[in-house]
Amino acid sequence: MNRPYKRWRGSVNISEMYDEIVAVTENRPLTGGHFLLSLHSPRQAQATRPGQFAMVRLLDRSDVLLRRPMSIYDTKPAKPHGRKRRGAESPEVVQLLYKVVGRGTRLMSELKPGDSVGLLAPLGHGFFEEDYLSQARTADEVLHVAGGIGIAALLLAAKQLAKAGFRQRLFFGGRTKADLVGVEEFKPLVHGMALATEDGSRGRHGFVTRPLEEYLARHRNKKFLLMVCGPWAMLEATVGLAKQCGHACLVSLENRMGCGLGVCLGCSIRVHGEGHGAYERVCTEGPVFWAEKVAWEKESVPER
Ligand SMILES: Cc1cc2nc3c(=O)[nH]c(=O)nc-3n(C[C@H](O)[C@H](O)[C@H](O)COP(=O)(O)OP(=O)(O)OC[C@H]3O[C@@H](n4cnc5c(N)ncnc54)[C@H](O)[C@@H]3O)c2cc1C
Ligand code: FES
Repeated sequence: MNRPYKRWRGSVNISEMYDEIVAVTENRPLTGGHFLLSLHSPRQAQATRPGQFAMVRLLDRSDVLLRRPMSIYDTKPAKPHGRKRRGAESPEVVQLLYKVVGRGTRLMSELKPGDSVGLLAPLGHGFFEEDYLSQARTADEVLHVAGGIGIAALLLAAKQLAKAGFRQRLFFGGRTKADLVGVEEFKPLVHGMALATEDGSRGRHGFVTRPLEEYLARHRNKKFLLMVCGPWAMLEATVGLAKQCGHACLVSLENRMGCGLGVCLGCSIRVHGEGHGAYERVCTEGPVFWAEKVAWEKESVPER
């Protein structure tokens, strides 16, 4: 049995990660080339905190050597077979919501129940649990802002906040209505949602930052915490709005990654600081950052 790798920040053990070979239990096609992949992995599911991610390795594929980073979308108890098993309520399944964009994700879409993949998880600091909860406590409402597949980074955080009784709202934009996957999962967690598509096929016509801007303008006297994940241009625009109105803002970044473990430095971003302090690794110091920490220059984040 694999032993967990313990990771430390200062003197605090922040999480345990496991490198496992896990079984696919479902790989459900959704709209717009999206899939929901369910993997049976009790230890990784139980160790996961909101905003963390996994590195997926396709086995026996020498043409896809690097693992692919994916947000951990959800964790679920295993489906009960017949009699209810003891402990069946604790999560045993890790779910990844992904979009087919290239060779790795295309091969992922061909996975069938019973196949295996390598899964290194959970990784990253997620949404700094205590830190963000203390900000959320002082806010009138938490605003989740998602662009396309960026929605995958936010569901677990929304679930945890809903459980703790926080008021939340979702702003979700995509190119077309087929990109708006996961809306049903958010419905019971939020007090309201604004959808937007660039082609006008669902919700407001245009970028999701427009309804967000209007909402912030209508509620100038309120205090919000924004949690944002999506393409770089959307992040920049959203962070600009949050700054203008003086709201706290957490961003989940999706830079290209090599190792996912803090070794290759391939995911480094510019942050406010000097010398070595001017760079941080998205895989280990992130993927979630306070917006004001990031130097918002044009970054190497691919458009999806
Ligand atoms: C922390 C994090 C969380 C992510 N969560 C999700 C998610 O929940 N769902 C989802 O669909 N996608 C997510 N992505 C993006 C996803 O990793 C890429 O879409 C995927 O790696 C593309 O692989 P490919 O082989 O299909 O594409 P290719 O373009 O053929 O990939 C070539 C190489 O570039 C890397 N790469 C390409 N695009 C990206 C990208 N946008 N981000 C990072 N690396 C990239 C690949 O890992 C691979 O090493 C996440 C990325 C990061 C960093
Ligand atoms: S991906 Fe290698 S250091 Fe972050």
